[in-house]
Amino acid sequence: MPLSVRGLTIPLLDDLPPCRRVIVRIDVNSPIDPGTGEILDATRFRAHRETLRELAERAAVVAISHQGRPGEQDFTTLERHARVLEEATGLPVEYVDDVIGPEALRRIRGHRPGGILLLDNSRLVSEDFVEAPAEVHARGIMVSRLAPLFDCYVNDAFSVSHRSQASVVGFPLRLPSAAGRLMERELRALARVLEGGGRPRVYVIGGSKIRDMVAVIEHALAKGAADKILTTGLTALLFLQAKGYDVGGARSALERKGAMALLGRASRLVREYGDSLMVPLDFLVETEDGEVRVEDAGEIRGAPKDIGPKTVEAYTEALRGAAVVVMKGPAGVIEDPRFRGGTIALVRAALESGAYTLFGGGHFNVIISELPEELRGRVGHISTAGGALVYMLAGRSLPGLEALARSALSRGEARSGRGGG
Ligand code: 3PG
Repeated sequence: MPLSVRGLTIPLLDDLPPCRRVIVRIDVNSPIDPGTGEILDATRFRAHRETLRELAERAAVVAISHQGRPGEQDFTTLERHARVLEEATGLPVEYVDDVIGPEALRRIRGHRPGGILLLDNSRLVSEDFVEAPAEVHARGIMVSRLAPLFDCYVNDAFSVSHRSQASVVGFPLRLPSAAGRLMERELRALARVLEGGGRPRVYVIGGSKIRDMVAVIEHALAKGAADKILTTGLTALLFLQAKGYDVGGARSALERKGAMALLGRASRLVREYGDSLMVPLDFLVETEDGEVRVEDAGEIRGAPKDIGPKTVEAYTEALRGAAVVVMKGPAGVIEDPRFRGGTIALVRAALESGAYTLFGGGHFNVIISELPEELRGRVGHISTAGGALVYMLAGRSLPGLEALARSALSRGEARSGRGGG
């Protein structure tokens, strides 16, 4: 049965007609060591395991993904990704260093069920880094070359579904299409926090992407999606400033991030939703000579690196009794173990509250993996997505989901043989 999310009807793998050859959009875009080229985190690879194993049992599976952005250091081929994908899925993975050229087409035609054929970085084809409507991509070179070789398309890449790029939005207009199992898990978790799951809903919003976070907070409060927002990280400093606190040296960090331009929006939110919007009472700061100490929110002198003990206590209290908790972004500079305590405490408090929890951001994987098993078992969902999750939480539409909802399959045309667009 298709899944209904935010008014869209998304076909799932069980809705897909039998297919002999399927192209699956995965997202194995991962952090890469600039020195060695080594892939530093295999979380996204493991997340596609279920979809790829299920599809490999019924069809010849060809996987397509991007890595990095053209011109950036982590824009690499997917040769190493093939090895990591093999390890993560337990399936044989062949790699072809081509995306839409003759070698790729030859290997796709010859590919048989049982293993995965991984194409090279999809953004080697410039079309896959161009934002254009689905109709345009459906007629583009990538989709025109590849679609005729397949019976079906699966989008298992929620984390890139906020992009209107060829490999994300073009195929569903040409082939019977469905969401993969990872996409399904992500959407079910989001449907639960956005549309169901009970009240109160508490959002813990931190990290350093302040512009995104302000958009999430605006939407969550204006639409009543959240009952309470606990701010941490740089986002909290912006709201403290908006409340008229002197954030001391932290003001320059906000200026560097261009966050002062958001002060007007933050002040309006404070005025309209003051009680629902919590700010830290204290911080763990680092002084210029490397001393770490606690300072009250109104008297910040050092560089704030984590929330302080009074804040942990107040936020823990606010999380108690929550029915749903969404946690996006860490509360401090968690790369440094000295400033990880606030995030750990809030993650524990969310899990102990008994709420349904959704965590957004890869850093939560590390923190949660270090918790006792009993608490780990309470995790609702850890999203693999960054930007796509922000889009959902900020109420923006996701072109990848819209394309799936418009696919031939969801229009019921696949069964009548008119899926070829
Ligand atoms: C992500 O990591 O958020 C996705 O892989 C999308 O990558 P992009 O921001 O380069 O489009």
